[in-house]
Amino acid sequence: MHAREIGPGVWRMGGVDWNRRLFDALIPLPDGTTYNAYLVRGSEKTALLDTADPTMERELMAQLAEVGRIDWVVSHHAEQDHSGCIPAVLAAHPEAVVLCSAKARDLLTDHLGLDGSRIRIVQDGERVSLGDMTLQFVYTPWVHWPETMVTFLPERQLLFSCDFFGSHLATSEPFASGRPCVIEAAKRYYAEIMMPFRRTVAADVAKVRSLGFDRIAPSHGPVWDEPETILAAYEDWVSDRVSNLAVIPYVSMHGSTAAMVDRLVEALADRGVEVRPFELSTTDLGELAISLVDAATIVVGAPTVHGGAHPAIFHAVHLADALRPKTRYAAILGSYGWGTRVVEQIVGLIPNLKVELLGTVLCKGAPGRETSAAIEALAESIREKHEENT
Ligand code: FEO
Repeated sequence: MHAREIGPGVWRMGGVDWNRRLFDALIPLPDGTTYNAYLVRGSEKTALLDTADPTMERELMAQLAEVGRIDWVVSHHAEQDHSGCIPAVLAAHPEAVVLCSAKARDLLTDHLGLDGSRIRIVQDGERVSLGDMTLQFVYTPWVHWPETMVTFLPERQLLFSCDFFGSHLATSEPFASGRPCVIEAAKRYYAEIMMPFRRTVAADVAKVRSLGFDRIAPSHGPVWDEPETILAAYEDWVSDRVSNLAVIPYVSMHGSTAAMVDRLVEALADRGVEVRPFELSTTDLGELAISLVDAATIVVGAPTVHGGAHPAIFHAVHLADALRPKTRYAAILGSYGWGTRVVEQIVGLIPNLKVELLGTVLCKGAPGRETSAAIEALAESIREKHEENT
């Protein structure tokens, strides 16, 4: 990718990874990702805001080869997909000094082995002049590491937000321009990265909103040229509001748990509750995470193997717990062969979920009339709770 000017004196650099399909060896990336760095060339000084993943080092350094002097390298976030090329940039630009938050300093030293004499801490609200443009640093902790900050460029009404408001989306288009695929990718990104820190993210959204910008330049995905779209979306996602939605992650070994899920799906749909089942042996866990951003209820469909929950259930439920969604209600259903410990196991896996357990429906073998009646009763409980609280 060539460097691209997104405003007077401001260039987007970095690279597009069209083929990456997994992040942190965990998070599915169905649409690849981008690693955006930004160059701001003022009348007196030049700053590079973030770098890129080490896999993009050759591409970034080729872009920077035409730049000349770099005075500042701003590191908003120490995670290597943005900081990983800082050592190469500092080696090629011996005059450059890293600007970062107080907490980032140690992280950059620990993760990258940076020389402390090449790092200068900037305070929350501090401004650094580039001549005709100004970098204003704003601490935004826990989006999604403790050291994270953003930079406001008032002369261009631009906010550089790094991971904050980002989206894992490989695209050649530099601007979001209202495309629905970008907001969907941003919701997936929020679910997988930001949701565990919802309360602090809410405070950070309120803090940056007051700056008054007309574009947001994140380090993943395109630039938000209509920033109200993503600001309003974040304000909804971080709020306490939940939707009239039940999600059902499940797996089935011989079809009995699947039959129970099918019955619950019908019973909920008949009662006006939106429902999304996720068959875990084939589902993209990112889709489940997206649904958990808003869902009022999660129902786990767990068959029993070797006396306990199926391993796919452990994985999905542990992930749901780690993401800390605002889900309010939970239930468990499933079939077993001769005995089961699924309820105590699943309850033990969700210490972070502040949910009310609405019921459990277990059956030995294939579900019969009694099980169907219990599922109908569970659906009715879910409907009543949703009616009161969504
Ligand atoms: Fe895109 Fe937290 O790194």
